[in-house]
Amino acid sequence: MKVLALNSSPRKAEESKTALMLTHLVDGMRQAHAEVQIIELHKKNIKNCIGCFTCWTKTPGKCIHKDDMTRELMPSWLDADLVVYATPLYHYTINATMKTFIERTLPVLEPFFEKRGGARTAHPYRQKPPDAVVLSVAGFPELSVFDQLSSYVNFLFGREDRLLAEIYRPAAETLPLIKSKNEAVFAATEQAGRELVTTGQIAPDTLEKIQQPIVDFSTFATIGNAFWKTCIAEGVTPKTFAAKEMRPRPDSIASFMAILEMAFNREAGKDTRAILQFDFSGEIEGACHFKVDCGNIEAIAGQADSPDLTISTPFEVWMDIMTGKADGQKMFMEQKYQVTGDLELLMGFGELFGS
Ligand SMILES: Cc1cc2nc3c(=O)[nH]c(=O)nc-3n(C[C@H](O)[C@H](O)[C@H](O)COP(=O)(O)O)c2cc1C
Repeated sequence: MKVLALNSSPRKAEESKTALMLTHLVDGMRQAHAEVQIIELHKKNIKNCIGCFTCWTKTPGKCIHKDDMTRELMPSWLDADLVVYATPLYHYTINATMKTFIERTLPVLEPFFEKRGGARTAHPYRQKPPDAVVLSVAGFPELSVFDQLSSYVNFLFGREDRLLAEIYRPAAETLPLIKSKNEAVFAATEQAGRELVTTGQIAPDTLEKIQQPIVDFSTFATIGNAFWKTCIAEGVTPKTFAAKEMRPRPDSIASFMAILEMAFNREAGKDTRAILQFDFSGEIEGACHFKVDCGNIEAIAGQADSPDLTISTPFEVWMDIMTGKADGQKMFMEQKYQVTGDLELLMGFGELFGS
């Protein structure tokens, strides 16, 4: 099977969540012996369709433009058995790069009118177009964010049963952070690749694993808002934020709890059983504690009955330490915060919350 995998994200492959999901899908396809070519569409010169209909009249089947679409992409598209249309969700649908590509496939149609499926008007195909799989990723956490895209691609590709599968991954920006879930998502995406090549479809169970919820809205919004506020305050883009390995700065005890819980490294904490408490003073006052129990963590508001370690600190001091703006040891020496209980737990903090 010849597969053409088109990625329309403008981001570099290592930053793109479309590429992340597509890589796993393609790995599965290759395991099932498909011949797969991946194309990053934004690196290609694809001019807009100018609506001249030259491809329907003067040079039937041939576009007037001379660019990467006519020279390379259209021939590969026509030659493929299956095309994966992988796109980030932009304003609830495919992005402009993918739309430009799709518009430029007009030469595959003839200008005439016919009724297809007995119901609606269509143009006949000059040549059978390849089967389609649609893969998309979105920032928002609900699967329903893809409803409009799904409706569009079903209308566009589905009419001839050309649309073999739709793969949608919400909360895609959060996915790499949720280590407890993302491996299952990636494994299922690979499985989907194998299934598509061997059976021409994706089993409902596999799709359910790919699209499984990975984060509740409250955690998503708490951490997401802290992330964007930090980017704005520091004047950095998400790309720089990631490159500098920055951390979102909590601005409340609730967001501190959510962020520390997410930063917990299960592997590093697999042998630890302890209760870590924070008593905050200053602009934000209050307490919270974390129950670490052999690889699991639970964040709880308020004080614990018998904590193993208590850190008493002005809120902003600890946030400076947590975001790398201040040195924890130096602040300790300068008595900017106080510690009671098991100091070894404090020493292991970087590792325990380094995920
Ligand atoms: C212009 C633009 C529009 C977007 N529109 C939506 C949207 O409608 N819904 C959504 O959930 N995410 C939206 N997003 C977020 C992207 O879908 C999300 O960041 C995705 O992971 C990007 O994929 P990529 O990393 O492969 O580029 C939008 C992002 C941009 C830049």
